[in-house]
Amino acid sequence: MLGEVRITPSILNADKSHLQSEIVKIAQVSDLLHLDIMDNHFVPNLTWDLDAASTIIKESPLPVDSHLMVADVDEIAVAYAEAGSASVTIHAEACRDIRQTLRNIKAYGSRASLALKPASQISDYVDFLNEVDMILIMTVEPGFGGQKFMVEMMAKVQETKKLIGSRDIWLQVDGGVSLETIEIAREAGADTFVAGSAVFSSSDPAQMVNMLRARAMGQ
Ligand code: DX5
Ligand code: ZN
Repeated sequence: MLGEVRITPSILNADKSHLQSEIVKIAQVSDLLHLDIMDNHFVPNLTWDLDAASTIIKESPLPVDSHLMVADVDEIAVAYAEAGSASVTIHAEACRDIRQTLRNIKAYGSRASLALKPASQISDYVDFLNEVDMILIMTVEPGFGGQKFMVEMMAKVQETKKLIGSRDIWLQVDGGVSLETIEIAREAGADTFVAGSAVFSSSDPAQMVNMLRARAMGQ
């Protein structure tokens, strides 16, 4: 029997001049809103700063899943939790004190999540599984939407799923998730799916979210 499936649309490639109406399109059918924060250091792209992100978080009809692709994330992560993110994801590669930062996020009532770039191995971070609410396995190099899904990451998803075992930890994939790839990720063990361009380049974003969910559930 299939467990729960969560669809978390990314607004990275949505129409930024009409962001509120873009979000409204998918609000009824999505689980969380995925907000990609980039600083032009950790990744070669720049998105919202904390002020702009805080406004999005406060006005969003959906709980916000903040994915922080920023260098020196330790202090910034706390600010995103304080701003009201339902979930805050830090990259293991950008964090000095992972354990403390995860705890700081949770102290604000947010879910704490750890992300791994394609070159990072889950075996190096097993110790943090007792601290996290979600693990994010990147299925593209972080930085841009619209890239090709890295099917070779499925071994890492499978390994992570096995390490999670019976713990209540969500397993998210991000990058290149589409109707063609979501089943592969689900079969490998993912349960939480970020989809950016697949949703917002669709003529009917809400219908696309519903189709992705159905596909992930094997329907
Ligand atoms: C990439 C971002 C993703 C991106 C996904 O670094 O973390 O969330 O928006 O976009 P698609 O679904 O187009 O790959
Ligand atoms: Zn993301």
